[in-house]
Amino acid sequence: MIDIASGHPAIDRFLAESYERLRGMSSRFAAAISGHLIRRQSELGISGELVEIGTFEGRFFIAMALGLAPGEKAVGIDRFDWPNAGVEGRFLANCAAHGIARERFLSWKVDSREITSGDLRDRLGHKPIRFVHIDSHHTRECLRNDLELVHPLLHRDGMICLDDMLHPGYPMMASAVFDYLNRHPEMRLACVIDREDIVAAPKFLICRNNMFERYREELLGAFARFHFVLNADMESYFALVLTPYPRLAEVE
Ligand SMILES: C[S@@+](CC[C@H](N)C(=O)[O-])C[C@H]1O[C@@H](n2cnc3c(N)ncnc32)[C@H](O)[C@@H]1O
Repeated sequence: MIDIASGHPAIDRFLAESYERLRGMSSRFAAAISGHLIRRQSELGISGELVEIGTFEGRFFIAMALGLAPGEKAVGIDRFDWPNAGVEGRFLANCAAHGIARERFLSWKVDSREITSGDLRDRLGHKPIRFVHIDSHHTRECLRNDLELVHPLLHRDGMICLDDMLHPGYPMMASAVFDYLNRHPEMRLACVIDREDIVAAPKFLICRNNMFERYREELLGAFARFHFVLNADMESYFALVLTPYPRLAEVE
């Protein structure tokens, strides 16, 4: 098991004791890095709600929600119809079993393509989103929808985390991200979180330009030993790369 922690005691207890026993697809490596960012956002006074589109049985959602600051809520959005109708019940049971009080979160059974940013804003009580994990239907059309859904609601200093980027099974997904970055030049790819394996695939972290250096410093300060020093070439800048087992190819 990779030795990585978020620095948030409740998140780290969950990651160590339960995370991999819950069914789900996100890596513990990515959950620890995301938990670290959620903790640091709280310490920096970045306040708002936490959102996941595609909660499934709650593995990543619970890791996020354990980082809620007082007065904040988490919103979990899912169609809850796959692989069977019992999935929402298992999501709610997992939240209860791991200390997410019912009044701290909203379980919203809906297809993200059937709601507007206004609908989501109402569910958020008109508070901004400070951290959102998008992990729903793996098509360009759905990812485009979900990015535009959350974009107007994102806290100025907020973070978007995208699942299954650069996954061998979904090569087209990344193009939806680059189209989004072209439409919104105020946004940047801050970090690529590399895969653990084929079912715990890479994630992208995206933030506004104003927070790029800040998040970079936060991530490098905490996770320097996972840094792939060549970084990710975005042509006009370099995004950070964190990988469970960093190394360079031998050339001589
Ligand atoms: C890969 S699973 C999510 C895994 C989870 N985030 C984790 O880390 O364990 C994808 C989930 O997205 C849901 N989903 C797919 N398309 C959706 C959509 N358009 N709106 C809401 N939920 C959707 C599916 O029902 C499924 O539960």
